[in-house]
Amino acid sequence: MRDIIKVALAGLGTVGGGVAKALLKQADILSDRTGCKIELVAVSDLNKNRMSELEIPNTVSYFSDCLEMVDKSDADLFIELMGGADGIAYKYCQKVLNAKRHFVTANKAMLAHHGNEIAELSQKFGVLVGYEAAVAGGIPIIKSVREGLVSNRISQVYGILNGTCNYILTVMRETGKAFDEVLAEAQKLGYAEADPSFDIDGVDTAHKTALLGALAFGMPIDFDVLSVEGIRHISALDISFAEEMGYRIKLLGVGRKNDKGVSLNVYPCMIPQTSEIAHVDGVFNAVITEGDFVGHSMFVGRGAGETPTASAVVSDVADIAMGRGLPLLGLPQSKVKPVSIVDLSERVGKYYIRFEVMDKPGVVAEIAGILGAEGVSIASMIQRGESKDHVPLMMILHKSVEARVQAALEKIKKLDFVLQEPCMIRIEEV
Ligand code: NAP
Ligand code: HSE
Repeated sequence: MRDIIKVALAGLGTVGGGVAKALLKQADILSDRTGCKIELVAVSDLNKNRMSELEIPNTVSYFSDCLEMVDKSDADLFIELMGGADGIAYKYCQKVLNAKRHFVTANKAMLAHHGNEIAELSQKFGVLVGYEAAVAGGIPIIKSVREGLVSNRISQVYGILNGTCNYILTVMRETGKAFDEVLAEAQKLGYAEADPSFDIDGVDTAHKTALLGALAFGMPIDFDVLSVEGIRHISALDISFAEEMGYRIKLLGVGRKNDKGVSLNVYPCMIPQTSEIAHVDGVFNAVITEGDFVGHSMFVGRGAGETPTASAVVSDVADIAMGRGLPLLGLPQSKVKPVSIVDLSERVGKYYIRFEVMDKPGVVAEIAGILGAEGVSIASMIQRGESKDHVPLMMILHKSVEARVQAALEKIKKLDFVLQEPCMIRIEEV
């Protein structure tokens, strides 16, 4: 084991700032616990003032160009906290690995798109890649799945993986505030991505689900197999109606494996209020795994923000300082095998549908007829309000095949009394 490890850090924003503070302020406990001095030797950011704002001493070298930092710094380990799937983060990553140095990142977008190549490079050059902070922020989920559950065949891994969306859905439910106002709060708190549409359109959750699925099921990382839906179409009415029916709305990333193959999807869904994850609120994330030996496990913690995310990044640094590390997906690359993908259209489950319709005779009969013709059965139905021109009509459907529900909705939305795109929310009995 080494006595000292030199660290360079690119990106001094929300997370990078937190990491710099942790490396400087927690240096004593890090050194006691790892038996190794972890020394920040170089940083890179577009804005040099971040050095003084973060009280980074002048003994730490500053580089405006992070690629130059790789060439000129003698760091053993380089951290990437700039963000973006491609561009500078990806160039920096390739340069670090090709230079045979260890690499730590929180960048799930880059890993979801280039993770297989990064795993190959790490194996080829015998260096470690840490990405604990890339999934579920401060929750040590990569370590838990890769190491803690090593003896298990995992059949399910799912959860609340985006702090911004969970914060928005929670605050909307608790306060009735509008979507945009709550999103602005989440941005101010440092939870949101540089482009917040990644959060609210489910893309960030999909990046994390692609990583978790690959890790849990031993398959290559493949972002393109995911079906992805966000939370833009969820209205205050859906949230309050869900409450009335005993459900909560959560954006979930869902990975399941059965005899047919693996399904990886992201969608908002209604889950029973009695479910343990229904009460995971605000910026908190939760990941649930089903392993054949351990059974059901649940991991909860803060999923975003400066200090929780920095805590996860520094845990990777500490592991590498202690000489501990595993292949990116916990397997040699030769053992990572492609799997069959089960399409979301094959899902069998319950559904909530909200139609905005004209209030006139025959509306329900016609909708019910189309659903019935597709073999889809209505479990319950409520119509709200008495306006002649515009009323919400909400239905819960019995367990049905998704393809049949979608086929019925395609026909129903063309009816002249249907005034908006129907809102469909899957119900998960988790
Ligand atoms: P951020 O606040 O926008 O920080 C990014 C930093 O990188 C900024 O200081 C930026 O400088 C700097 N930067 C951009 N281009 C650079 C370049 N070419 N060279 C050097 N520095 C450069 O983002 P963040 O929230 O900390 O997120 C960083 C990464 O962590 C992302 O991959 C994100 O997905 C991931 N992550 C974030 C969270 C969270 O809660 N925020 C949680 C988990 C994972 P300027 O500001 O001057 O452009
Ligand atoms: N934008 C992400 C979130 C950051 O809100 O969860 C953590 O990955």
